[in-house]
Amino acid sequence: MPSYPDYRPRRLRRTAALRNLVRETVLVPSQLVLPLFVRPGAGIRQPVASMPGVSQTSVDEMLRDAQAAAEAGVGGVLLFGIPEHKDAEGTEAWREDGPVQQAVRALKRELPQLVVVTDVCLCEYTSHGHCGVLRDGDVDNDATLALLAREAVSHARAGADIVAPSDMMDGRVGAIRHALDDAGLQSTAIMAYSAKFAGGYYGPFRDAAESTPQSGDRRGYQMDPGNAEEALREVWLDIEEGADMVMVKPAGPFLDVVARVKAETGYPLAAYQVSGEFAMIQAAAERGWMDRERAMMESLLGIRRAGADVIITYFAVDAARVLHGR
Ligand code: PBG
Ligand code: ZN
Repeated sequence: MPSYPDYRPRRLRRTAALRNLVRETVLVPSQLVLPLFVRPGAGIRQPVASMPGVSQTSVDEMLRDAQAAAEAGVGGVLLFGIPEHKDAEGTEAWREDGPVQQAVRALKRELPQLVVVTDVCLCEYTSHGHCGVLRDGDVDNDATLALLAREAVSHARAGADIVAPSDMMDGRVGAIRHALDDAGLQSTAIMAYSAKFAGGYYGPFRDAAESTPQSGDRRGYQMDPGNAEEALREVWLDIEEGADMVMVKPAGPFLDVVARVKAETGYPLAAYQVSGEFAMIQAAAERGWMDRERAMMESLLGIRRAGADVIITYFAVDAARVLHGR
């Protein structure tokens, strides 16, 4: 490589046109996915205190948000459900007329251009708030698999393009793939939350989804934040069990894992910029401590530069609008 003064990197930074010409990484709205929280009822829009700009909505109001996302060119939505009643097994997760199932049908009818992804987990539906069923105070892995499979099949029957298991039970991707195939749903794709780390960044989400565990935490099933080698093993397991796409979550604090998963597998890769990452930027911007738009775009660009194809982010609509120059 030539060195100074033959090579002067500043030559290509002189004007916006030159910078645009040689930019290596660009964001595109069609690879952004907007999470939405759906609850039963009509005309409901309940703001989430810890996530300024995010609300729980009924299906009719959800359609307005999804319409705005589609108009901005956002590629898809990721649905979370808040049920009417919770119980020990989370049985409302596979109710045919549950909020997620209704939302999927409404989206497929009204906005067929959007990719519809559903989060498959039990924590929003269980009275104890854990991602699986409990036995002797611990989450029973194998007993949970059949329930997750039922939930996934019910989302797929409603018309979901992609089901996304976020529970971190061992063997769940295989169980869901078999159940989908047995139900004649071989075209429904699986986006596996493969490397999902336990930690503090999910705090605001648990307000939004009303899914805080009543006792204990999720460290017995979500990953230890120190582990990147194990993350690769989790990713390969999910690929072998039939995952069509894999995910790293959270994104920002785990960009090294994003980069390694992309480099070592070459699989379609999603990264989830989670509620805590979103809330930090919103809070700092509200105080005037950071420029919101620049921090938002830089955080997303970093995730993409690390190797993510798809970014799941509460900023999806705002970022898409910035990319279009509004
Ligand atoms: C549920 C689930 C969580 C998120 C997505 N699916 C939370 C958790 O594991 O407690 C987090 C999303 C976010 O923080 O934005 N299994
Ligand atoms: Zn869960």
